[in-house]
Amino acid sequence: SPSLAEAAQRTGRYFGTAVTAGKLADPVYAGILDREFDVVTPENEMKLDATQPQQGRFVFTAADRIVDHALQRGKRVRGHTLLWHSGQPGWLNNLGGTALRAAMLDHVTQVVAHYRGRVHSWDVVNEAFADGTTGRRRDSNFQRTGDDWIEAAFRAARAADPGATLCYNDYNVENRAHAKTQAVLRMVRDFRARGVPIDCVGVQSHFAGGNPVPADFEATLRDFAALGVDVQLTELDVEGAGATQAQGFRRVAQACLAVPRCTGITVWGIRDTDSWRASGTPLLFDGAGDPKPAYHAVLHALHCG
Ligand code: G3I
Repeated sequence: SPSLAEAAQRTGRYFGTAVTAGKLADPVYAGILDREFDVVTPENEMKLDATQPQQGRFVFTAADRIVDHALQRGKRVRGHTLLWHSGQPGWLNNLGGTALRAAMLDHVTQVVAHYRGRVHSWDVVNEAFADGTTGRRRDSNFQRTGDDWIEAAFRAARAADPGATLCYNDYNVENRAHAKTQAVLRMVRDFRARGVPIDCVGVQSHFAGGNPVPADFEATLRDFAALGVDVQLTELDVEGAGATQAQGFRRVAQACLAVPRCTGITVWGIRDTDSWRASGTPLLFDGAGDPKPAYHAVLHALHCG
């Protein structure tokens, strides 16, 4: 039977996974990666603390291993992530105001330029909105340099690689009624109206028992797409097991398939044992590398809608 990537390609989409460089030498891990997925996202290797551990000293060794592995096998790369309140190196915390703004934009420029032509899509800014009901930006050192930090980052990224798809990426934007979803919709609408170069919204899609796939998930994807941007499901996992979990994955795949501008799905890891969720089982392959019911449900949905 076809792989996830082949089945997705027949619908004009991709099927990706988060990858960590330290596991590329694991033959079970690499075997599944190479067979099933056509897009890879470095799980941590492109974050600020990894790529610029000291100011002006850029380290691309681990990220390059993932990018090389992917490109040598005809896969594409999602870059994750240029700017995030979390995972920052210590030196950034000692900066503020114009010095921080300059360092922030320099980081975007240098990293995007290093990967120019090799990274297909960038998560330019990750998780910049607050949870809860305020719809406000999240407080962070970047936010304190001024509300326009996000658009400045997108302009810097576009200048450094005009061919890359530029995404704003966040979680808790799956539910249409959520204040955060509405706030991100407003930002994207405003950016499109003012010519800020945003091409895509990344909807992380971390689902669990207390946070199930919402009934209006497809409608949310449609709302983003209606603003003239692609939608990518960027960090999909569904905590659970068996038929219930399979149904969650199926519904996510069907929602993406129903929205023409939902261009691809990335799961946040390969085997359950690769997941960031400690002792969870939220992925498509079990710890032995065998496909779970959720795998077959996704494959079936990609085939049959
Ligand atoms: O590799 C180091 C190890 O050398 C060190 O001794 C150890 C001690 O803490 O840490 C190890 O690094 C950890 C890394 O994962 C690799 O396992 C970090 O501490 C840990 O913080 C890091 O967690 C990552 C997390 O983001 C924070 O950056 C997860 O792997 C990663 O899955 C998770 O991914 C995020 C997305 O980037 C954004 N959206 C939410 C998603 C899930 O939290």
